Amino acid sequence: MKITVVGAGAVGASCAEYIAIKDFASEVVLLDIKEGYAEGKAMDLMQTASLNGFDTKITGTTGDYSKTANSDIAVITSGIPRKPGMTREELIGINAGIVNTVSTSLIKHSPNVILIVVSNPMDTMTYLVHKVTGLPKNRIIGMGGALDSARFKYRLAEALGAPISDVDGMVIGGHSDTGMVPLGRHATRNSVKVSEFLSADRMAQVVEDTKVGGATLTKLLGTSAWYAPGAAVSGLVQAIACDQKKLFPCSVFLDGEYDLKDICIGVPVILGRNGIEKIVKMELDKAEKAKMQESAEGVRKTNDLLDV
Ligand code: 2OP
Repeated sequence: MKITVVGAGAVGASCAEYIAIKDFASEVVLLDIKEGYAEGKAMDLMQTASLNGFDTKITGTTGDYSKTANSDIAVITSGIPRKPGMTREELIGINAGIVNTVSTSLIKHSPNVILIVVSNPMDTMTYLVHKVTGLPKNRIIGMGGALDSARFKYRLAEALGAPISDVDGMVIGGHSDTGMVPLGRHATRNSVKVSEFLSADRMAQVVEDTKVGGATLTKLLGTSAWYAPGAAVSGLVQAIACDQKKLFPCSVFLDGEYDLKDICIGVPVILGRNGIEKIVKMELDKAEKAKMQESAEGVRKTNDLLDV
């Protein structure tokens, strides 16, 4: 199993590290345009192999896509990250051009690749990859919901005073401060609805903290986060590589599901060796459906800025 990660910045490198530590891939190729950077990160990571006990071979390349040939899965993290105070949507001008070039270059060398898009604004970048590559929709996956759900579980556990392993919850909708739809009504603590433990006000706070999860970290770190994004991507990669049939919320192209068409947005899907194996239909109440439609409107506004 060969995996390419484009962009050897913090998110790309973390992603490569988590993939290697989980030791399910034979090869990870890191690619970056900054001279020597991917090679350096790959070498540093390889020097952790004997310490962390993995056999995955990690190599780096400065922009040579021939080195990525015959990848089974490729992760696109390239583009500029958020600075404090910036929204993900503000990155579109620069990142659209980069994601266009990266996705078409990847496919040239790996025609059967499954693409995972991480670059922001992620839902719009995922939609762009659909438009420019024409790949079947099961092979284009946007990573946002897995990360947002991890942040939701963190906030839920904090509010409940419970271990995170006790908590389950999911975030659907767009991967943006205003577009996320954390499904508080469905969240559970070991099968018991969290509403049994949390007041409506406390739950509303958890939802708000989740939605600005990325912005909170950007303010603290001066740039966007990397550990949780890297771990979330590695979870999706593993589910595909190991044909796990795991359920994650991912940004996928919808054609009528959830009453939405011609848009990429976060909904629950099953991930396996074919990429998106199924879009899972979830019963949403009136308020949740309305939030989903509102979120889609926001994503469409950003999509409208694309030149495709
Ligand atoms: C985040 O939310 C990178 O968009 C990503 O941290």
